[in-house]
Amino acid sequence: TVPMIAVDGPSGSGKGTLCKRLAKQLGWQLLDSGAIYRVLALAALHHNVELDDEEALVALATHLDVAFEAREDSEVVSVMLEGEDVSKAIRTEECGAAASKVAPFPKVREALLQRQRAFRTAPGLIADGRDMGTVVFPDAPIKVFLTASAEERARRRVSQLQSAGQSANIAQILADIQARDDRDMNRAVAPLKPADDALSLDTTTLSLDEVEAEVLAYAKT
Ligand code: CDP
Repeated sequence: TVPMIAVDGPSGSGKGTLCKRLAKQLGWQLLDSGAIYRVLALAALHHNVELDDEEALVALATHLDVAFEAREDSEVVSVMLEGEDVSKAIRTEECGAAASKVAPFPKVREALLQRQRAFRTAPGLIADGRDMGTVVFPDAPIKVFLTASAEERARRRVSQLQSAGQSANIAQILADIQARDDRDMNRAVAPLKPADDALSLDTTTLSLDEVEAEVLAYAKT
């Protein structure tokens, strides 16, 4: 089987950045599963599909024309929806919130399963998400669950949004994070939680370098 590392955790836990670094370091594929849920939410907005219309969302998910395109000039990957570059559009807080509203529907998740599993190709995969170790890749040999205090995660989010040129209010972001955590942890299907065999890491006081070193050391054991 193809080697892989499943990385799960809440918003702002540092998964995204860690996963990009690990994929680069190891030369493995990267699955940003959150981007797929974000693209689905954006597609729903574009096609006037209500975020609670499960049937319509399933149809949209089944036929979702999403692609991750490597750019020649940079390490950044473009996220394409129906041929349009939506890399920026999917990163707003609104889109993140919308993603967490379409994500609880079991049939929507089901419709996206094979698409995610298809990323597991040689030489290896780094999978970033909420249910990588529990549902999508239960047989992943290495599973990591990242956490951090909500306040620290809100701080990270704010600086991320600011460096992307978006304005951000810390109190608002903290409230958004808590609302999203609540939806992600309390949904019936694939709730956000560590797999039984995952290494849990609290990154509140850890630098990215420290987290990366710890995960790489764990992967080698
Ligand atoms: O960037 P951030 O961690 O805030 O969010 P994301 O990873 O882009 O995911 C956005 C939303 O998609 C999450 O809040 C989840 O509700 C949903 N999601 C999910 O249900 N399962 C995944 N494997 C990934 C994301």
